[in-house]
Amino acid sequence: MEVLSAASEVYPLIKTGGLADVAGALPAALAGQGITMRTLVPGYPDVMAKLTGGRVVRELDDLFGASARLIAARAEGLDVIVIDAPELYDRPGNPYVSPDGWDWPDNWKRFAALGWVAAELGHGLVEGYRPQIIHAHDWQAGLAPAYIKFGPTDHVKTVMTIHNIAFKGFFGSEIFSQLRLPPHAFGMAGVEYYGGISYLKSGMECADYVTTVSPRYAEEIRTPEFGMGLEGLLEGRADTLVGILNGIDTIAWDPARDPALAQTYSANTVHARHINKRAVAERFGLDGVDGPLFCVVSRLTDQKGMDLLLQTVDGLVDLGGRLAVLGSGDPVIEGNLREAWARHPGKVGVITGYDEQLSHLMQGGCDAILIPSRFEPCGLTQLYGLRYGCVPVVSRIGGLADTVIDANPAAIAAEVATGVVFDPGNAHALYEAIRKTIHLYGDDRLWKKIQRRGMKSDVSWEASAVRYADLYATITGLENDDTDN
Ligand code: ADP
Ligand code: GLC
Repeated sequence: MEVLSAASEVYPLIKTGGLADVAGALPAALAGQGITMRTLVPGYPDVMAKLTGGRVVRELDDLFGASARLIAARAEGLDVIVIDAPELYDRPGNPYVSPDGWDWPDNWKRFAALGWVAAELGHGLVEGYRPQIIHAHDWQAGLAPAYIKFGPTDHVKTVMTIHNIAFKGFFGSEIFSQLRLPPHAFGMAGVEYYGGISYLKSGMECADYVTTVSPRYAEEIRTPEFGMGLEGLLEGRADTLVGILNGIDTIAWDPARDPALAQTYSANTVHARHINKRAVAERFGLDGVDGPLFCVVSRLTDQKGMDLLLQTVDGLVDLGGRLAVLGSGDPVIEGNLREAWARHPGKVGVITGYDEQLSHLMQGGCDAILIPSRFEPCGLTQLYGLRYGCVPVVSRIGGLADTVIDANPAAIAAEVATGVVFDPGNAHALYEAIRKTIHLYGDDRLWKKIQRRGMKSDVSWEASAVRYADLYATITGLENDDTDN
């Protein structure tokens, strides 16, 4: 089966968050299920720089006003089709914003192009290539299912995956006339959303199936608290909405082989993490390695509960903990974190910016990772934490609740605990969770058991790849040969 995955980021070509990790890992995960997945991605400078070779498979003179070439290539282990359209994508900054942090004003056009090309590839734009399924990720690719639904054929099926319902890709209705959709597409059953246009809603409305990245989040987004205005739509299509848990790339994230670590180790040698802990302490200017070291590796946004963390830092230090934060995002949160650092020199360290290698070292050396998210569709850093023996301390929501088992007395007795889970959106609950973690850390035998159990838990793509394969088979009416159904 041929599937075209359309995504605005894909690791290792371009990454700002978990979407890239997932889009980057899915093709290899699905290959074992007999599925060939190519990834369609915009040709940002980072992507173009990593393309070696490649073949122009189509030229377009008018891709929403820009001239473009579609380049098929094998890059960093991925089969990609890159939209090389310098007028749209050859810009500094990250895929969505300019270097000074503002959304590009023509994002509607930059990502309409992504959805349009995906759909046209489904319609046979490139000779010899005919994917049966277009799998669109998040709002940036959300128009693809609409272009298919309102297009000339229904041979090609569509899946829309919600990685984050908070970003709707909302634009004014004035762009509609330029979207190349028929007039009746501007309506409830199409792209219209509260008088404007939402690319995410379009995908959710028009796709054959909607998926999201954990079973619990699939339930949560059908409620007003988490649905962010789209709960009605989702409730209406509950029978074609599924939550499939993300896995992680267990080769790129393997503590026994990770070149970013000062010292590699396995579940049997967790004590060796100490060397990495020392390396983290040095990088963050911490004054020692005795006592529990917490870390945060995160986008600095409201979603991630960073305000709760800020309210708890003093308490964490008073309890004898240290904290290393690697993050980037909201300048106000960055400023507040620097203040906390200034208040607690040697106990708190903050590095702002994006550093993939350092994020690995932190998972390999810190004792616990704090993830106080207010909502979390899946979350990957708790999965990396489990795999690296960096015990996850997470709020009880979304994919966090689906993947971490709280160390309560019953779970400890049953030998299943893998982390600490607390009530979301509550600084006091976070503080109590930190206190509990420090207490557990004090019992060295129990702590190592929790670490080892996490390291042995299944965070791979294996089970979820089968679920995607089954879903594709259901939608196309074709059998998935590699499974029993
Ligand atoms: P989200 O996609 O909502 O940001 P996830 O937990 O799914 O959250 O994925 C975040 C990914 O980005 C993980 O791979 C994490 O390690 C990485 N990450 C986040 N912030 C940074 C940073 N400042 N430096 C390096 N990696 C980061
Ligand atoms: C989003 C979500 C995160 C999820 C990631 C990958 O960015 O915020 O929870 O893990 O996508 O699916």
